[in-house]
Amino acid sequence: MKVAILGYGTVGSGVFDVLQENKEIIAKRVGAPIEVKYVLDLREFPGDPVEEVLTHDFQEIINDPEVAILVEVMGGLHPAYEFSKQALLSGRSVCTSNKELVAKHGAELIRIAQEQKCNYLFEASVGGGIPVIRQLIRSITADEVEKVCGILNGTTNYMMTKMREQGAAFDEVLKRAQEKGYAERNPAADIEGHDACRKIAILTSLAYGRQVDYEDIYTEGITEISDVDVAYANKLGMGIKLLGESYRKDGTVYAMVAPKMLYADNPLYPVNGVFNAILIRGNKLDDVMCYGRGAGKLPTASAVVSDVIDAAKHPNVNIPILWEEEKLELGSREAMVNAFFARVPAEEKPKAEAALPIARTVELAEHPEEFAFVTEPMTEGEFARKTAELTVIHMVRVEVK
Ligand code: HSE
Repeated sequence: MKVAILGYGTVGSGVFDVLQENKEIIAKRVGAPIEVKYVLDLREFPGDPVEEVLTHDFQEIINDPEVAILVEVMGGLHPAYEFSKQALLSGRSVCTSNKELVAKHGAELIRIAQEQKCNYLFEASVGGGIPVIRQLIRSITADEVEKVCGILNGTTNYMMTKMREQGAAFDEVLKRAQEKGYAERNPAADIEGHDACRKIAILTSLAYGRQVDYEDIYTEGITEISDVDVAYANKLGMGIKLLGESYRKDGTVYAMVAPKMLYADNPLYPVNGVFNAILIRGNKLDDVMCYGRGAGKLPTASAVVSDVIDAAKHPNVNIPILWEEEKLELGSREAMVNAFFARVPAEEKPKAEAALPIARTVELAEHPEEFAFVTEPMTEGEFARKTAELTVIHMVRVEVK
């Protein structure tokens, strides 16, 4: 079984290593050895074992009838989309970690794979090494999905954990995450929440079987979270996590990416460092949580290789995935219900108490100039209207118990 890897970056080189180092057990599981015949990259890698199979020309791969599976780990939309489509149209399976491409064109590429009796598989596109896609499409099949909620970005979870535990500075921990190979090429995608947004778009599309456009999902990153917010959260006995969430209520699907304060008994609360976790609620099953390394070379490569093995075990057989191209319209952000932690100037305390249903207040000795509180649950729209006359220094959403 011959494979071509498109892209020899962090994940691509990890796939190459996993296929070499675990080749015996992989061959036993597949029933035949898997051999990397080509690695496509524009760069040269003098002295690297990849040199022997390196090519700069995609046509060499697509014109080779021996290549049965392509691993697309280039990232970005172009030319990854064109290469993947061409490979699927020629009946080759494609395995990818490219969440941007999966979120944007997943439905179309899945349809082409179905028509061509091959597979478009994307386990590594969400949750790094965690087998969450497989859980959703092959295990949680008897239920209506009520909710998906996860810590979906390893970089930001690593950063927030280090900032909380070690008081480390934002830029310093971001640099460490980049050195560890967790961050995107442009880390703005991590810290501004876009990476988590693509991942919740993929999970929501799979949960409800229709295309969810990530551009429609309200997204906030962690760049506005300060050490003062973290100190208030600690005092409240809560932790702030960047969450990707979607749920269905009265037939409408809602989705959002934003930092949120979680109570200590929430199963996502103790998920620290580069670890991700995804909680899925089925209407019969109740809650299931998947936990593991959300980023990093080898965990992500392991997930990609698990797809290569699946593809190798299903030659000329499509593994069905329900994700139709028809767009799913999301409910409006204004109608989504949360509780809200907010800080206003101390002199606005009476105004805040008159305007909002306040569930509890919290004080920091170092910030007597502020009045900080958590509201009762209300819609985003209501919160915006009721705080219109207040000077909100900062707001962080709080889980509704
Ligand atoms: N930059 C991503 C993260 C990589 O930190 O989670 C895995 O998708």
